Amino acid sequence: MHRPINSFADKGGMLRRALSEIYENSRDYFVVRQGERVRACAALHISWSDLAEIKSVAVAEDSQQQGIGAQLVEVCLKEAKELGIATVFCLTYQPAFFEKFGLSQVDKMELPRKVWTECYRCPKFPDCDEVALIRNLEV
Ligand SMILES: CC(C)(COP(=O)(O)OP(=O)(O)OC[C@H]1O[C@@H](n2cnc3c(N)ncnc32)[C@H](O)[C@@H]1OP(=O)(O)O)[C@@H](O)C(=O)NCCC(=O)NCCS
Repeated sequence: MHRPINSFADKGGMLRRALSEIYENSRDYFVVRQGERVRACAALHISWSDLAEIKSVAVAEDSQQQGIGAQLVEVCLKEAKELGIATVFCLTYQPAFFEKFGLSQVDKMELPRKVWTECYRCPKFPDCDEVALIRNLEV
């Protein structure tokens, strides 16, 4: 997961994740593998009883446009519903991709304050240039 995420991060496409952060949150991740190779990953991170974030959606370049990213987002949404979490959000540079899954753009300031705890560690804080999207789930 570290490799695909940070290769896109190096190109400015998403935020870097430290190896320690990936290990600490490894239970959050869904992974698509081919043998030992990770082709794609995505994480559902629980922020609060009624709030979770879809994060680190990364599909290796040679595996894109095959429906893998869509499967990963769908499985994150499914898990959020199963856990009874009413709202999911994401912060991304690819809002049009997430809009395909019913997430809608919102002003970042509308996100619950709990979301910002992680942002303090981001090198871009407080000048976040990602787009916030949110979806309420029927749970
Ligand atoms: C964005 C990304 C996750 C898409 O993954 P993917 O596996 O190529 O996407 P899929 O093949 O599942 O595409 C599903 C649908 O989304 C569309 N789509 C794919 N990438 C898109 C994008 N960047 N913007 C808008 N739509 C996109 C596809 O055309 C497809 O549409 P369709 O259902 O109408 O045919 C992938 O390109 C990626 O990893 N990019 C680099 C990292 C990144 O930007 N992650 C974003 C979140 S942090």
